[in-house]
Amino acid sequence: MTTHTLVDQLSQTTRDAQAQMAAAHDAQALEAWRVEFLGRRGRLSQLMQQLGALSPEERRTAGAEANRVKALLEGLLAQGQRALSERDAAGKLTSDRIDVTLPGRPVALGRLHPVTQTVREICAAFAGMGFDIAEGPEVEWERYNFDSLNIPRDHPARDMWDTLWIDWTDPTPQGRRMLLRTHTSPMQARIMEQAKPPVRVIVPGKVFRHEATDARHEWHFYQVEGLAVDTGITFADLKGTLYEFARRIFGPDRRVRFRCDYFPFVEPGVDMSIDCFLCKGQGCRLCGDGWIEIMGAGMVHPNVLKGVGYDPEVYTGFAFGMGPERIAMLKHGIDDIRHFYANDVRFLRQF
Ligand code: FA5
Repeated sequence: MTTHTLVDQLSQTTRDAQAQMAAAHDAQALEAWRVEFLGRRGRLSQLMQQLGALSPEERRTAGAEANRVKALLEGLLAQGQRALSERDAAGKLTSDRIDVTLPGRPVALGRLHPVTQTVREICAAFAGMGFDIAEGPEVEWERYNFDSLNIPRDHPARDMWDTLWIDWTDPTPQGRRMLLRTHTSPMQARIMEQAKPPVRVIVPGKVFRHEATDARHEWHFYQVEGLAVDTGITFADLKGTLYEFARRIFGPDRRVRFRCDYFPFVEPGVDMSIDCFLCKGQGCRLCGDGWIEIMGAGMVHPNVLKGVGYDPEVYTGFAFGMGPERIAMLKHGIDDIRHFYANDVRFLRQF
C-alpha cells in the first residue's frame, strides 16, 4: 500500500459515504451508514489500520488526510441525524394536528343526589322559621340513642328500632355500648346538655337499622330531627310548625294527617302523613291506606327534660323526626325507596 493508494481509497470512501448519506431517509439506514463508515470495523477504521505499514513521511501525509475524512464523515453523520429528527418533528406536527372544527367532548357534570337536595330543602324551610342546624355522630352511645330518650335498658320499646351494634368492649366498669344510631333523636339530649332554653334546632343526618327493605323501608336512610324547647310551648305550636313545613315543601294543596302514635320520649305522640301521590289517597301497593307517613313527633317527655337538667315544670317543648327519602318520593312521585341507593345514573340524572 502506498500513500497514493491510501489517499485514493479515502477519497473513494468519502464519495461513497456522501452518496449513501443522501439516500438514508430513516433511522435504520442512518445506523447502517454509521456502522459501515465509522464503526469499529468500518471502512475508515480499516484504512487507518493500514497507516502503520507506511514510512513515517508517508504516514504523516496520509494520516492528516485520514483525520480530515474522519471529521468530514462525523459531520455528515451529525447532519443526517439532525435532518432526520427535523423530519420526525415535522411529521408529528402534520399527523397530530388538532382539528379545531371537531365538536368538543361533552363534560359529564355531576349533580346533587335527590335525597341531598331534599335534605337541603327541609333545612331551608326550617331555617326560614328560625331553627338552627346541628349535626351529630353516626356512631353513638347507647345512652344517647336509648337511655336519655326515656327507654330503659330492658324496655320492649327498644325493639321499635332494630339496632346495629358496634363490636366493641368497654374497658371501664360502666360497660357502655356503642351502636350505629337508629334515629337522629340522640341529638336531643346532646343539644340540651350543651344549651340553655330557648332551643330551636334541626338535625339532618344518616341513620341505620337492621331491617328488611321494601318499597318504603331502607336499612340506612336519612332523618331530620327537630327540637324546640322554651317556656309555654304547646301542642298547637307543634302542629302549626309542621303544617307550615308541609305547606313550604309540598305546596298548599296536599293533605296532611296527624294520628296518635307512641314514642317513649314524647307525650302525647303523633305521626304525620301526606296523601299518597300514586293513588291520590285511595290506597295502593305503595301506601296501603292512602297515606305515606313522613314523621313521628310529639311533646318532649318530662323525663327527657329532667335527664338533661331542664325543669319540666318550667319548660315544655316539641320534637319530631322525619324521613327525607319518603318526602322525596312524595315530591317526585318515586314509587320505591330503593331507587335512591341503587346507583343507577339513569334514575339519578332525572333530578
Ligand atoms: C323515629 O325514628 C323517631 N325518632 C321519630 C321521632 C322524633 C318521634 C322525635 C318523636 C319525636 P320512626 O321510626 O317512625 O321514628 O321514624 C321516623 C321517620 O323516619 C318515619 O316517619 C319515616 O319517614 C322515616 N323512616 C323510618 N324508618 C324508615 C326506613 N326503614 N326507611 C326509610 N325511612 C324510614
